Amino acid sequence: MNQYLNESNFMMVEEGFTTRDLLENLLVELCQVSDQQAFFVADLGDVVKKHLHFLKALPRVKPYFPVKCNGSEGVIRLLAELGTGFACTNKAEIARVQSIGVPAEKIFYSSPCKQVAHIKYAASHGVQLMTFDNEVELSKVARSHPRARMLLGIAADSSPSAHPSMTFGATLKSCQHLLETAKEQAVEVVGISFHLGSCGLEPQAFAQSVAAAQMAFEMGTELGYRMHLLDIGGGIPSTEDTRAQFEEIAAVINSTLDLYFPDGCGVEIIARPGRYYVNSAFTFAASITAMEEGPTEQPGSDGRAEARQVTGHWCILIPCGCSIFFLQKPCPDHPSHSSSLWGPPGHAEDRIADGLELPELQVGDWLIFKDMGAYTIATSPSLGGCPQPQITYAMSRVAW
Ligand SMILES: Cc1ncc(COP(=O)(O)O)c(C=O)c1O
Repeated sequence: MNQYLNESNFMMVEEGFTTRDLLENLLVELCQVSDQQAFFVADLGDVVKKHLHFLKALPRVKPYFPVKCNGSEGVIRLLAELGTGFACTNKAEIARVQSIGVPAEKIFYSSPCKQVAHIKYAASHGVQLMTFDNEVELSKVARSHPRARMLLGIAADSSPSAHPSMTFGATLKSCQHLLETAKEQAVEVVGISFHLGSCGLEPQAFAQSVAAAQMAFEMGTELGYRMHLLDIGGGIPSTEDTRAQFEEIAAVINSTLDLYFPDGCGVEIIARPGRYYVNSAFTFAASITAMEEGPTEQPGSDGRAEARQVTGHWCILIPCGCSIFFLQKPCPDHPSHSSSLWGPPGHAEDRIADGLELPELQVGDWLIFKDMGAYTIATSPSLGGCPQPQITYAMSRVAW
């Protein structure tokens, strides 16, 4: 036990007591006091299971959880307790994990674009591991953090259509020049990093990137660097129904690592799995606070339903295509309506979904959103002036 987490940080529940039971109990309590505040329920036992599964499936890979994916206190405390590292993209995230006592050696400042003030903050707080993928970033670090240990970020070798988010990373062609420049500036390079993006990851893309990383390792070694750290990034899929995909990706990672970085070669492997760890652990509940009927549908449509807006009052980021559930099963006798669902009033960007077939809802009805743990919670306490929904953490006695 590392003492980052104790029983005061979560509700201990008996085996068999589900997140849904907890959610229903909380809703009964809220209804009794007419409270309509949106909230999360987080099953920390689910995160424990994910961690154990990760270690079993990828025994050579040490996870560094990206704090931007879910910086909630319960998650950070639990993962610190489980011994993972943390990938931080800015000073606030570094401060957050250090505030609960995580040592600097467990922190990787993984952003490819860093503010000088944040680099200096990392330097003064002992955080050494960082990335760079161009000369500008390199010289900022050379000037502001002489003790930094750098990973050279390489561009992922994946099809641009499959991974449109992949915008960072040096090409293999420019690696030689960047490594030579690092040498001239007396910056210590300790390894290579890549991140393949998070959507529809092809297992073979890992294989190609690991092969490219090995070539970059050789360039560094020839220049006299002691290259001993490989970061394979995030992008590992999350929900239970993608289990087969996870196993497939893990098998490709393991065999590729064995080929290019065999056990005993002295290279430590790290990864930054985000959504894999937390997505399925979080459920979100929001109540309807306002409704507005829109214009009836155009002639030519089936004329069955009216368009209407359903407005909730809460302030989180709901991913497109997330699953919405109702506490009571919608009654088949009641017609559904084509509806759009909105976040807090006045936030044009908070239109969550259009064209949803929702049953006749009333103000005060609750909607339940499953798989809400990844990229839904802002690191700063308030987004657009709205309070963050409260999170109730639970864990079964067995998981604890
Ligand atoms: C650079 C980087 N690393 C890691 C991650 C984690 O990705 P995921 O949550 O898909 O594992 C992200 C996600 O955006 C990222 O941008």
